[in-house]
Amino acid sequence: MNGTINFPGLIDPHVHLRDPGATHKEDFGSGTRAALAGGFTTVLAMPNTQPPLTDTPSLELAKSAACKKAYCDYGIYLGAGPDNRETASRLAARVCGLKLYLDQTYGPLRIESLGLLHEHVSNWPADRPLAAHAAGRSLAAILFFAALLERSVHICHVSRRSEILLIRAAKEKGLRVTCEVAPHHLFLTEADAPQIGPGRSKVRPRLANASDQDALWTNLDVIDCFATDHAPHTLEEKDGPQPPPGFPGLETALALFLTAVSDGRLTHEKLIARMHTNPKRIFSLPDQDETSIEVDLNDEWEVCGAELQSQCGWSPFEGMRLKGRVRRVVLRGQCVYADGQVLAAPGSGQDIRER
Ligand code: DOR
Ligand code: ZN
Ligand code: ZN
Repeated sequence: MNGTINFPGLIDPHVHLRDPGATHKEDFGSGTRAALAGGFTTVLAMPNTQPPLTDTPSLELAKSAACKKAYCDYGIYLGAGPDNRETASRLAARVCGLKLYLDQTYGPLRIESLGLLHEHVSNWPADRPLAAHAAGRSLAAILFFAALLERSVHICHVSRRSEILLIRAAKEKGLRVTCEVAPHHLFLTEADAPQIGPGRSKVRPRLANASDQDALWTNLDVIDCFATDHAPHTLEEKDGPQPPPGFPGLETALALFLTAVSDGRLTHEKLIARMHTNPKRIFSLPDQDETSIEVDLNDEWEVCGAELQSQCGWSPFEGMRLKGRVRRVVLRGQCVYADGQVLAAPGSGQDIRER
Protein backbone atom coordinates (compact mmCIF):
# COMPACT_ATOMS: atom_id res chain seq x y z
CA MET A 1 0.00 0.00 0.00
CA ASN A 2 1.26 3.47 -0.87
CA GLY A 3 1.11 5.33 2.40
CA THR A 4 2.41 8.70 1.28
CA ILE A 5 0.24 11.73 1.96
CA ASN A 6 0.65 15.51 2.05
CA PHE A 7 -0.04 17.78 4.98
CA PRO A 8 0.27 21.54 5.24
CA GLY A 9 3.53 22.81 6.78
CA LEU A 10 3.28 22.23 10.52
CA ILE A 11 3.48 25.08 13.05
CA ASP A 12 5.07 24.68 16.49
CA PRO A 13 4.04 27.60 18.70
CA HIS A 14 6.47 26.71 21.50
CA VAL A 15 10.20 26.01 21.05
CA HIS A 16 13.37 27.01 22.93
CA LEU A 17 16.26 27.58 20.52
CA ARG A 18 18.82 28.90 23.10
CA ASP A 19 19.97 31.65 20.76
CA PRO A 20 21.43 33.98 22.04
CA GLY A 21 23.42 32.69 24.99
CA ALA A 22 23.53 28.90 24.91
CA THR A 23 24.19 28.01 21.29
CA HIS A 24 26.12 24.90 22.39
CA LYS A 25 22.68 23.44 23.28
CA GLU A 26 20.88 24.61 20.13
CA ASP A 27 20.78 27.66 17.89
CA PHE A 28 18.52 29.04 15.20
CA GLY A 29 20.38 26.82 12.71
CA SER A 30 20.24 23.44 14.43
CA GLY A 31 16.80 24.11 15.94
CA THR A 32 15.19 24.97 12.61
CA ARG A 33 16.92 22.01 10.92
CA ALA A 34 15.30 19.84 13.58
CA ALA A 35 12.01 21.62 12.83
CA LEU A 36 12.17 20.78 9.10
CA ALA A 37 13.09 17.16 9.88
CA GLY A 38 9.99 17.02 12.06
CA GLY A 39 7.71 18.54 9.39
CA PHE A 40 7.50 22.05 10.88
CA THR A 41 7.79 25.01 8.52
CA THR A 42 7.16 27.62 11.24
CA VAL A 43 8.37 27.69 14.86
CA LEU A 44 7.70 30.30 17.53
CA ALA A 45 10.79 30.77 19.72
CA MET A 46 10.62 31.46 23.45
CA PRO A 47 12.37 34.43 25.13
CA ASN A 48 14.04 32.69 28.12
CA THR A 49 17.46 33.02 26.47
CA GLN A 50 20.64 34.66 27.79
CA PRO A 51 20.02 37.55 27.86
CA PRO A 52 16.25 37.13 28.08
CA LEU A 53 14.38 38.85 25.24
CA THR A 54 12.73 41.77 26.99
CA ASP A 55 13.84 44.90 25.08
CA THR A 56 15.09 46.11 21.70
CA PRO A 57 18.80 45.22 22.11
CA SER A 58 18.13 41.66 23.26
CA LEU A 59 15.42 41.17 20.61
CA GLU A 60 17.86 42.39 17.96
CA LEU A 61 20.42 39.79 19.08
CA ALA A 62 17.90 37.00 18.52
CA LYS A 63 16.60 38.50 15.28
CA SER A 64 20.03 38.89 13.73
CA ALA A 65 21.02 35.33 14.69
CA ALA A 66 17.77 33.99 13.25
CA CYS A 67 18.06 36.07 10.09
CA LYS A 68 21.47 34.54 9.34
CA LYS A 69 20.81 30.96 10.44
CA ALA A 70 17.14 29.93 10.24
CA TYR A 71 16.18 27.17 7.77
CA CYS A 72 12.42 27.52 8.34
CA ASP A 73 10.10 30.42 9.15
CA TYR A 74 9.97 31.65 12.71
CA GLY A 75 8.47 34.13 15.12
CA ILE A 76 10.10 35.35 18.34
CA TYR A 77 8.34 36.00 21.65
CA LEU A 78 9.03 38.94 23.89
CA GLY A 79 9.39 38.03 27.57
CA ALA A 80 7.53 39.91 30.30
CA GLY A 81 9.69 41.00 33.23
CA PRO A 82 9.83 43.61 35.96
CA ASP A 83 11.67 46.16 33.79
CA ASN A 84 9.53 46.24 30.64
CA ARG A 85 5.99 46.75 31.95
CA GLU A 86 5.85 50.20 30.29
CA THR A 87 7.84 49.42 27.14
CA ALA A 88 6.83 45.90 26.07
CA SER A 89 3.84 47.02 23.99
CA ARG A 90 6.06 49.14 21.73
CA LEU A 91 7.63 45.93 20.44
CA ALA A 92 4.32 44.10 19.93
CA ALA A 93 4.33 44.37 16.14
CA ARG A 94 7.80 42.80 15.86
CA VAL A 95 7.17 39.67 17.95
CA CYS A 96 4.80 36.71 17.73
CA GLY A 97 3.45 37.43 21.22
CA LEU A 98 4.25 38.28 24.83
CA LYS A 99 5.28 35.36 27.04
CA LEU A 100 4.37 35.49 30.72
CA TYR A 101 6.16 33.11 33.09
CA LEU A 102 3.95 32.87 36.16
CA ASP A 103 5.76 29.88 37.67
CA GLN A 104 9.39 29.00 38.25
CA THR A 105 11.05 27.29 35.31
CA TYR A 106 14.36 27.45 33.39
CA GLY A 107 15.97 30.90 33.41
CA PRO A 108 15.27 34.07 35.38
CA LEU A 109 12.21 35.39 33.51
CA ARG A 110 9.33 35.45 35.96
CA ILE A 111 6.33 37.56 36.92
CA GLU A 112 6.56 37.57 40.70
CA SER A 113 3.69 39.79 41.75
CA LEU A 114 0.01 40.13 41.03
CA GLY A 115 0.51 43.85 40.35
CA LEU A 116 3.15 43.21 37.69
CA LEU A 117 0.94 40.60 36.05
CA HIS A 118 -1.98 43.06 36.04
CA GLU A 119 0.14 45.75 34.40
CA HIS A 120 1.55 43.47 31.70
CA VAL A 121 -1.83 42.02 30.76
CA SER A 122 -3.42 45.50 30.74
CA ASN A 123 -0.67 47.11 28.65
CA TRP A 124 -0.25 44.43 25.98
CA PRO A 125 -2.36 45.25 22.87
CA ALA A 126 -5.70 43.45 22.89
CA ASP A 127 -5.23 42.11 19.36
CA ARG A 128 -1.75 40.64 19.97
CA PRO A 129 -1.11 37.13 21.33
CA LEU A 130 -0.41 36.64 25.02
CA ALA A 131 0.99 33.22 26.03
CA ALA A 132 1.33 32.07 29.63
CA HIS A 133 3.35 29.44 31.47
CA ALA A 134 0.78 29.12 34.26
CA ALA A 135 -0.01 25.93 36.14
CA GLY A 136 -2.24 25.27 39.15
CA ARG A 137 -3.38 28.47 40.87
CA SER A 138 -1.36 30.60 38.43
CA LEU A 139 -3.69 29.30 35.72
CA ALA A 140 -6.68 30.60 37.69
CA ALA A 141 -4.92 33.99 38.04
CA ILE A 142 -4.27 34.46 34.33
CA LEU A 143 -7.77 33.27 33.40
CA PHE A 144 -9.18 35.83 35.81
CA PHE A 145 -7.27 38.66 34.09
CA ALA A 146 -8.37 37.43 30.66
CA ALA A 147 -11.98 37.57 31.87
CA LEU A 148 -11.61 40.91 33.66
CA LEU A 149 -9.86 42.63 30.75
CA GLU A 150 -11.96 40.80 28.14
CA ARG A 151 -8.97 39.66 26.15
CA SER A 152 -7.56 36.43 24.75
CA VAL A 153 -4.87 34.33 26.40
CA HIS A 154 -3.06 31.21 25.25
CA ILE A 155 -2.10 28.69 27.94
CA CYS A 156 1.16 26.80 27.36
CA HIS A 157 1.76 23.09 27.98
CA VAL A 158 -1.35 22.11 29.96
CA SER A 159 -0.54 18.90 31.81
CA ARG A 160 -3.00 18.24 34.65
CA ARG A 161 -6.59 16.99 34.85
CA SER A 162 -7.62 19.97 37.02
CA GLU A 163 -6.12 22.40 34.49
CA ILE A 164 -7.73 21.00 31.35
CA LEU A 165 -11.07 20.87 33.20
CA LEU A 166 -10.68 24.50 34.32
CA ILE A 167 -9.92 25.55 30.74
CA ARG A 168 -12.96 23.61 29.54
CA ALA A 169 -15.12 25.45 32.08
CA ALA A 170 -13.59 28.81 31.09
CA LYS A 171 -14.28 28.14 27.40
CA GLU A 172 -17.86 27.11 28.19
CA LYS A 173 -18.28 30.41 30.04
CA GLY A 174 -17.17 32.26 26.90
CA LEU A 175 -13.65 33.26 27.97
CA ARG A 176 -11.26 33.79 25.07
CA VAL A 177 -8.80 31.13 26.16
CA THR A 178 -6.86 28.72 23.94
CA CYS A 179 -4.37 26.09 25.01
CA GLU A 180 -1.65 23.73 23.91
CA VAL A 181 -0.47 20.35 25.19
CA ALA A 182 3.02 18.91 24.69
CA PRO A 183 3.57 15.41 23.25
CA HIS A 184 5.47 14.32 26.36
CA HIS A 185 2.41 14.89 28.53
CA LEU A 186 0.25 12.91 26.11
CA PHE A 187 2.66 10.01 25.59
CA LEU A 188 4.66 9.80 28.85
CA THR A 189 3.79 9.77 32.56
CA GLU A 190 5.79 9.85 35.77
CA ALA A 191 5.85 6.04 35.58
CA ASP A 192 8.23 6.38 32.60
CA ALA A 193 10.72 8.49 34.58
CA PRO A 194 12.88 5.61 35.90
CA GLN A 195 13.44 4.31 32.38
CA ILE A 196 14.21 7.76 30.97
CA GLY A 197 16.58 8.48 33.86
CA PRO A 198 16.44 10.79 36.89
CA GLY A 199 17.95 13.88 35.23
CA ARG A 200 16.71 13.29 31.71
CA SER A 201 13.10 12.94 32.88
CA LYS A 202 13.11 16.39 34.53
CA VAL A 203 10.74 18.75 32.76
CA ARG A 204 8.41 21.64 33.68
CA PRO A 205 5.53 21.02 34.05
CA ARG A 206 6.61 17.67 35.52
CA LEU A 207 5.49 14.42 33.93
CA ALA A 208 2.04 13.75 35.37
CA ASN A 209 0.14 10.65 36.45
CA ALA A 210 -2.03 8.31 34.38
CA SER A 211 -5.23 10.07 35.44
CA ASP A 212 -3.89 13.43 34.21
CA GLN A 213 -2.77 11.87 30.95
CA ASP A 214 -6.15 10.23 30.50
CA ALA A 215 -7.91 13.57 31.10
CA LEU A 216 -5.86 15.21 28.32
CA TRP A 217 -6.90 12.54 25.82
CA THR A 218 -10.53 12.59 27.01
CA ASN A 219 -10.67 16.39 26.63
CA LEU A 220 -8.94 16.51 23.25
CA ASP A 221 -11.69 18.85 22.02
CA VAL A 222 -10.45 21.48 24.53
CA ILE A 223 -6.86 21.27 23.23
CA ASP A 224 -6.31 23.82 20.44
CA CYS A 225 -2.67 23.06 19.64
CA PHE A 226 0.00 20.43 20.03
CA ALA A 227 3.24 22.26 20.89
CA THR A 228 6.52 20.45 21.43
CA ASP A 229 8.03 22.77 24.08
CA HIS A 230 11.30 21.64 22.45
CA ALA A 231 13.73 22.46 25.28
CA PRO A 232 17.16 21.02 24.52
CA HIS A 233 19.85 20.74 27.18
CA THR A 234 23.11 18.83 26.77
CA LEU A 235 23.40 15.23 27.94
CA GLU A 236 26.24 16.32 30.19
CA GLU A 237 23.85 18.67 32.01
CA LYS A 238 20.91 16.25 32.03
CA ASP A 239 23.07 13.48 33.49
CA GLY A 240 24.97 15.86 35.80
CA PRO A 241 24.37 16.98 39.39
CA GLN A 242 21.95 19.89 38.58
CA PRO A 243 19.89 18.67 35.62
CA PRO A 244 17.91 21.53 34.05
CA PRO A 245 14.29 20.77 33.05
CA GLY A 246 13.37 20.20 29.41
CA PHE A 247 12.97 17.70 26.57
CA PRO A 248 13.81 18.01 22.88
CA GLY A 249 10.68 17.27 20.84
CA LEU A 250 10.68 18.71 17.32
CA GLU A 251 11.72 15.51 15.56
CA THR A 252 9.45 13.08 17.38
CA ALA A 253 6.14 14.98 17.70
CA LEU A 254 4.59 14.25 14.31
CA ALA A 255 5.55 10.57 14.40
CA LEU A 256 4.07 10.20 17.90
CA PHE A 257 0.78 11.71 16.71
CA LEU A 258 0.78 9.66 13.47
CA THR A 259 1.31 6.54 15.58
CA ALA A 260 -1.71 7.62 17.65
CA VAL A 261 -3.70 7.95 14.38
CA SER A 262 -2.58 4.47 13.40
CA ASP A 263 -3.74 3.22 16.82
CA GLY A 264 -7.16 4.88 16.34
CA ARG A 265 -6.70 7.52 19.09
CA LEU A 266 -6.59 10.52 16.73
CA THR A 267 -7.51 11.40 13.13
CA HIS A 268 -5.51 13.23 10.47
CA GLU A 269 -8.10 16.03 10.53
CA LYS A 270 -7.71 16.53 14.28
CA LEU A 271 -3.93 16.44 13.94
CA ILE A 272 -3.88 19.10 11.18
CA ALA A 273 -6.24 21.32 13.21
CA ARG A 274 -3.84 21.21 16.19
CA MET A 275 -0.54 21.37 14.30
CA HIS A 276 -1.46 23.85 11.57
CA THR A 277 -4.90 25.49 11.39
CA ASN A 278 -5.39 26.49 15.04
CA PRO A 279 -1.86 27.80 15.76
CA LYS A 280 -2.02 29.76 12.48
CA ARG A 281 -5.25 31.42 13.59
CA ILE A 282 -4.30 31.97 17.26
CA PHE A 283 -0.98 33.64 16.40
CA SER A 284 -2.23 35.37 13.19
CA LEU A 285 0.49 33.76 11.09
CA PRO A 286 0.83 34.61 7.39
CA ASP A 287 0.08 32.11 4.62
CA GLN A 288 3.04 30.11 3.34
CA ASP A 289 2.35 29.74 -0.38
CA GLU A 290 3.26 26.46 -2.11
CA THR A 291 4.21 24.86 1.20
CA SER A 292 3.52 21.27 2.23
CA ILE A 293 5.09 18.22 3.80
CA GLU A 294 5.08 14.70 2.39
CA VAL A 295 4.69 11.99 5.01
CA ASP A 296 5.22 8.23 4.67
CA LEU A 297 2.58 6.73 6.97
CA ASN A 298 4.06 3.23 6.75
CA ASP A 299 7.65 4.06 7.68
CA GLU A 300 8.30 2.41 11.04
CA TRP A 301 11.37 3.63 12.90
CA GLU A 302 12.95 3.61 16.29
CA VAL A 303 13.83 6.85 18.05
CA CYS A 304 17.59 7.27 18.39
CA GLY A 305 18.53 10.62 19.92
CA ALA A 306 22.06 10.56 18.54
CA GLU A 307 20.68 10.54 14.96
CA LEU A 308 18.49 13.61 15.30
CA GLN A 309 19.26 17.05 13.83
CA SER A 310 18.95 18.74 17.21
CA GLN A 311 22.33 19.45 18.77
CA CYS A 312 21.40 17.92 22.10
CA GLY A 313 21.68 14.33 20.83
CA TRP A 314 19.15 12.59 23.06
CA SER A 315 15.39 12.05 23.36
CA PRO A 316 13.02 11.15 26.19
CA PHE A 317 11.37 8.83 23.64
CA GLU A 318 14.63 6.90 23.04
CA GLY A 319 13.97 3.38 21.75
CA MET A 320 10.27 3.96 21.10
CA ARG A 321 8.98 2.47 17.86
CA LEU A 322 6.96 5.00 15.86
CA LYS A 323 4.99 4.75 12.63
CA GLY A 324 5.10 7.64 10.16
CA ARG A 325 7.95 9.82 8.96
CA VAL A 326 8.53 13.05 7.06
CA ARG A 327 9.89 12.35 3.57
CA ARG A 328 9.99 15.80 2.02
CA VAL A 329 9.26 19.38 3.00
CA VAL A 330 8.46 22.03 0.39
CA LEU A 331 8.58 25.64 1.60
CA ARG A 332 7.50 28.41 -0.80
CA GLY A 333 7.96 26.09 -3.76
CA GLN A 334 11.49 24.97 -2.80
CA CYS A 335 12.28 21.47 -1.58
CA VAL A 336 14.00 22.28 1.73
CA TYR A 337 14.21 18.77 3.22
CA ALA A 338 14.28 15.33 1.62
CA ASP A 339 15.03 11.86 3.04
CA GLY A 340 17.01 13.01 6.05
CA GLN A 341 18.86 15.85 4.31
CA VAL A 342 18.25 19.56 4.93
CA LEU A 343 18.46 21.24 1.51
CA ALA A 344 17.54 24.82 2.45
CA ALA A 345 20.18 27.51 2.79
CA PRO A 346 20.86 28.98 6.24
CA GLY A 347 19.00 32.27 6.54
CA SER A 348 16.29 31.26 4.04
CA GLY A 349 13.70 31.10 6.84
CA GLN A 350 11.62 34.26 7.24
CA ASP A 351 10.57 36.18 10.34
CA ILE A 352 6.76 36.01 10.32
CA ARG A 353 6.51 39.57 11.69
CA GLU A 354 9.12 41.33 9.52
CA ARG A 355 7.76 40.68 6.02
O1 DOR B 1 11.02 21.92 31.02
C1 DOR B 1 11.04 23.09 30.65
N1 DOR B 1 12.12 23.59 30.03
N2 DOR B 1 9.98 23.87 30.91
C2 DOR B 1 10.02 25.21 30.69
O2 DOR B 1 9.04 25.88 30.99
C3 DOR B 1 11.25 25.85 30.17
C4 DOR B 1 12.07 24.87 29.42
C5 DOR B 1 13.46 25.36 29.12
O3 DOR B 1 13.61 26.50 28.67
O4 DOR B 1 14.39 24.58 29.28
ZN1 ZN C 1 6.91 26.82 30.07
ZN1 ZN D 1 8.72 26.13 27.18
